[in-house]
Amino acid sequence: MAYISIKDVSYEYPGGFLAVDSVNLELEKGENVAIVGQNGAGKTTMVKMLNALLYPTKGYVMIGDMNTKDHTTAQVSRVVGYVFQNPDDQIFHSSVRGEVEYGLIKMKLPAEQIKKQVAFALEITGMDIYAEENPFNLPLSMRKFITIAAIVAIDCPVMVFDEPTAGQDMIGNKRLAIILEELYKRGKTVITISHDMEFVVNNFSRVIVMANKKIIKSGAPEEIFWDFQALEKAMLKQPYVSRLCKNLDINENIILLDQAVDILAKTIKC
Ligand SMILES: Nc1ncnc2c1ncn2[C@@H]1O[C@H](COP(=O)(O)OP(=O)(O)O)[C@@H](O)[C@H]1O
Ligand SMILES: [Mg+2]
Repeated sequence: MAYISIKDVSYEYPGGFLAVDSVNLELEKGENVAIVGQNGAGKTTMVKMLNALLYPTKGYVMIGDMNTKDHTTAQVSRVVGYVFQNPDDQIFHSSVRGEVEYGLIKMKLPAEQIKKQVAFALEITGMDIYAEENPFNLPLSMRKFITIAAIVAIDCPVMVFDEPTAGQDMIGNKRLAIILEELYKRGKTVITISHDMEFVVNNFSRVIVMANKKIIKSGAPEEIFWDFQALEKAMLKQPYVSRLCKNLDINENIILLDQAVDILAKTIKC
């Protein structure tokens, strides 16, 4: 059985709005997965059901042998850490360090372990130099890294990042890539929602496309970003290099700059 199973899951908000409709998804341990799709597709609602911030109104979610319905949000969020789309929904401490160590203190971990995990999380997110600052004196892009640090510090086996690339510049995206790489090395299962297709093709080995409350496709990035029907349905664009290759009639499922350079060099030499 898969490590994470979303079985025929729907979610209807209390007002009666159906945001996720009969979704099925299986993820293996250690997979790194990007979720893409237009605003309102149901991405955030779906991932909130992974850590029991929301419970399915139909179907169920299994994390290992744990059915989220049988557990509290606090219990599930020790296994699945969720970084909010908007950092201000998550931050409530008056110092960066206080924010990052809060979860660990609540878990009553030994002081030495807390120190080590907080130091790692602050360093890898670049927040170590702002550790004593008030988060609200820092810009949104940095507040996002504070919330990432808080989840990385908890060291849960599954981590969900909701639009970490929103509002980041190139340096921020590079930092995110380094964080993801380290989490992959540590065997974490990482699920990331992003609207940045260049970031997606460069950092994930599987892409899940959501459109209109449903998962419409799941596969390797080179498969997803050359499936024009799926892209159109989800109102997504190919990454720039894929668009360039397509316009040059190189229909070879190119998604990365290096691949395009290789193929163009060969073409020019001919
Ligand atoms: N608390 C809520 N109550 C009612 N509808 C909501 C609520 N939160 C989100 N929605 C609606 O559910 C749909 C899916 O939202 P969301 O999961 O945030 O999509 P995405 O993350 O893909 O942009 C949207 O139409 C949104 O307006
Ligand atoms: Mg969202």
